Amino acid sequence: MKTRTTTSPAHQHQVFLISGGTSGVGQALATGVAALGAKVVIISRTTESGQQGVAHIAQVTGNDRAEFLVADLSLQASIRSAAEEFKRRFDSLHVLANVAGALFFDKQLTAEGIDQSLAVNYLSHFYLTNQLLDVLQASGPARVLTVGGAPRFLRQPVVDLQDLQLAHNYSGMRATSQAMFARLYFAFALARRLHGTRVTSVAFHPGLISSRLVQGAPWWLKLLTSVLKPWEKTTCESGVYVATAPAAAGNGVFFDEQKRLVALNDQYDPAIGEKLWQLSEALTGLASR
Ligand SMILES: NC(=O)c1ccc[n+]([C@@H]2O[C@H](COP(=O)([O-])OP(=O)(O)OC[C@H]3O[C@@H](n4cnc5c(N)ncnc54)[C@H](OP(=O)(O)O)[C@@H]3O)[C@@H](O)[C@H]2O)c1
Repeated sequence: MKTRTTTSPAHQHQVFLISGGTSGVGQALATGVAALGAKVVIISRTTESGQQGVAHIAQVTGNDRAEFLVADLSLQASIRSAAEEFKRRFDSLHVLANVAGALFFDKQLTAEGIDQSLAVNYLSHFYLTNQLLDVLQASGPARVLTVGGAPRFLRQPVVDLQDLQLAHNYSGMRATSQAMFARLYFAFALARRLHGTRVTSVAFHPGLISSRLVQGAPWWLKLLTSVLKPWEKTTCESGVYVATAPAAAGNGVFFDEQKRLVALNDQYDPAIGEKLWQLSEALTGLASR
């Protein structure tokens, strides 16, 4: 589908870094902001998918300024190198959109010994953001976006602080929802840390976006999600809104897929958020720096 480029001078000089920009929500967000004329950098797992990703953005929007960074977001060493490369290649960062994600139905560990689901769906966002906070601060006003889900599923967050990696009683669905709640705790804890700075932390529900997420899922989940196919979109209006609209510059806020503010913050106990932050620092080695 072609998205007509309606270049916005306000965004032409802004740099957007989008993880997961090669598919699904990340790709929809990348094409949406590229259509405004912005400089978009996507994180891709391979050079080939990065090339395909930027070609897709150029084809859909006419904006041929997109670039890619290669990283395996399940690995902290790879995230570190990608963040270093970003800082070598680009002077500023106005929006960091943490959107990458994957489903893991069997318990797997990364080469660094971390649960794959936690590593990709939560820790990668935590770690990448922390690696890039200096450039975000220097580029302010800037935003960090965290992808959430439908607000009705987010109101009763459950994160097992004693067993963050689900060493006991692992299931793909539990791991996915735990990482989703952890992301929201992270978005709100980040907002507390950013208070008084020119960087804000915003979470959002992208709506139902055409995606490859369930490609390797069991048959029953594929069947369940196939029913929703007719309602899936390839654009992500809420994501583009939280990335670009002056009205979405709030800190520690959540927007639903209709771009409405939803009061979720109150349901996320700051004490749990802080404990999770400490555990995440320990898991990523940030605590010892
Ligand atoms: N789609 C929806 O309707 C929807 C709604 C609400 C929330 N979400 C959430 O949005 C997130 C993304 O889902 P999606 O639907 O966009 O899925 P998707 O179409 O499968 O896209 C996932 C993206 O993440 C990247 N990725 C996964 N593992 C990676 C790794 N180890 N290193 C680097 N990149 C990696 C993928 O890269 P590759 O191309 O290399 O695989 C891809 O670009 C998930 O957390 C999901 O729960 C989605």
